[in-house]
Amino acid sequence: MPDNAAASLLMAVPMPLVLIGPDARIAAMNARARALFGADGTGRHHVTVLRQPALLDAIEAALGAGRTGEARYLDPSPGSEGAYRVTVAPVEAAGGVLVSFQDVTDLERATQMRRDFVANVSHELKTPLTALLGFIETLRGPARDDAAARERFLAIMQREAERMDRLVSDLLSLNRVESAERQRPTDPVALDELVASTVSALRPTAEAAGVELAVEGEAGERMVVPGDADQLTQVFANLIENGIKYGGAGGRVTARLTYSPRELAVRGPAVTVDVIDRGEGFDPIHIPRLTERFYRVDAHRSREKGGTGLGLAIAKHIVNRHRGRFRIESAPGQGATFTVTLPALHGEMMR
Ligand SMILES: Nc1ncnc2c1ncn2[C@@H]1O[C@H](COP(=O)(O)OP(=O)(O)O)[C@@H](O)[C@H]1O
Ligand SMILES: [Mg+2]
Repeated sequence: MPDNAAASLLMAVPMPLVLIGPDARIAAMNARARALFGADGTGRHHVTVLRQPALLDAIEAALGAGRTGEARYLDPSPGSEGAYRVTVAPVEAAGGVLVSFQDVTDLERATQMRRDFVANVSHELKTPLTALLGFIETLRGPARDDAAARERFLAIMQREAERMDRLVSDLLSLNRVESAERQRPTDPVALDELVASTVSALRPTAEAAGVELAVEGEAGERMVVPGDADQLTQVFANLIENGIKYGGAGGRVTARLTYSPRELAVRGPAVTVDVIDRGEGFDPIHIPRLTERFYRVDAHRSREKGGTGLGLAIAKHIVNRHRGRFRIESAPGQGATFTVTLPALHGEMMR
């Protein structure tokens, strides 16, 4: 193959490639490699460009002993988290070595997220378990004959066991929703009826917390969406419950339904449900992270209220599965509004 054909081949490969000649100088670099290293290093000694010890060792072994090797390379530019799996392979015809960089940033990020998730779950389960074990020990020992203490401890034990039960149920439903996310639900669901019955089911909880629940807005055929009724109930139950738990200071939580014939967010007719409270709200810096698993504005308060920190993560997946849109708005002292917009079954389509 003529030299310029080899060079243009190198240029066309969609990953950073560096060809090092037998004299240990860089013989060629493609555009991706130039972008990664910030300049064209052709003609320079490879050590002055590649710099990272593990990679240099692999290159030396390939140049000297003709051994293929691997190394990890971390993008040194400030603020970058780029990670590469680098293969260093002798190229017989050129007498040099080809260094190719496979981008593993996303892979490593996913692995890290999985690790964090396992750590979070373990921590959330460990806390109630530790409490349970402690009370069991006390009940078998010092409090064995103390009937009053036994009643009190059993009540706490029940609360902790229920917390673990809720956590496991939420984990299971998160798992179910995630694995079905690509498959869009099709059953017609009347959102006005669904929201009204969710509100009735939560009325006792609201009354106990001194909060009034209200449903406002439209009803009827236009409120029908293709959906999964159980999952949508789960979304609104969590949003209204959150409003009672964290926004209850405002004394009222409102669910407002609106139909719009042309909603840009879903490219067609849509039903929007706003769940609004006038409680203390939160700093908007939290908004992008609120739908992450276990993210809470105030973790202590959430645990005290029996929360798992998974409700909004589940809600977001369910809305995604319905091809809808989930938005959060809040400001300190201004309450919070959680908005679910779902494609409607009936109405005018967008061109
Ligand atoms: N209406 C609200 N007002 C203020 N903060 C809220 C509201 N809804 C949710 N939050 C915050 O978002 C967090 C995550 O909510 P969620 O995922 O449902 O978890 P949980 O209810 O189990 O704590 C809550 O812990 C709380 O900090
Ligand atoms: Mg919740």
